[in-house]
Amino acid sequence: MTKILLLCIYSQNELLQVVLNILNNAKDALKEFRLEDRKIFITIYQEENNAVISIKDNAGGIPEKLLPKIFDAYFTTKHQSQGTGLGLYMSYQIITNRFGGMIDVINEEYLYHGAKYKGANFKIIIPLG
Ligand SMILES: Nc1ncnc2c1ncn2[C@@H]1O[C@H](COP(=O)(O)OP(=O)(O)OP(=O)(O)O)[C@@H](O)[C@H]1O
Ligand SMILES: [Mg+2]
Repeated sequence: MTKILLLCIYSQNELLQVVLNILNNAKDALKEFRLEDRKIFITIYQEENNAVISIKDNAGGIPEKLLPKIFDAYFTTKHQSQGTGLGLYMSYQIITNRFGGMIDVINEEYLYHGAKYKGANFKIIIPLG
């Protein structure tokens, strides 16, 4: 736990930039999905010697055929005034090059308080050294 805290303090700006990119995407997807009951779950935990930050929404997930492209530069499904397609590309560069970590996404179906949800789950995995 202390190591995760230290990681957050020492690398505040870049890590925050990545988290904000993912949160903004979740916000856009939730708006687009037009669901009343909007959720974003942020979980931080330690798995072996890695810090894991998971950010999961209930906006339906990312179409399977788009999954291999979303970390590419300039890949966007948004209107050009809404998105450049650089958010996840930059996030990927920061996590892999600056932190020696990994960032990945899966579509997840899950239960929360008895209700069934589906959405994208982005996981940032950072080795604690
Ligand atoms: N939580 C999500 N749910 C559904 N689709 C998503 C989600 N996050 C990302 N995407 C898809 O991934 C694409 C790429 O995201 P990325 O953040 O790289 O670019 P963008 O949001 O379109 O533009 P920007 O450069 O302004 O961030 C999005 O256009 C969207 O189609
Ligand atoms: Mg984005």
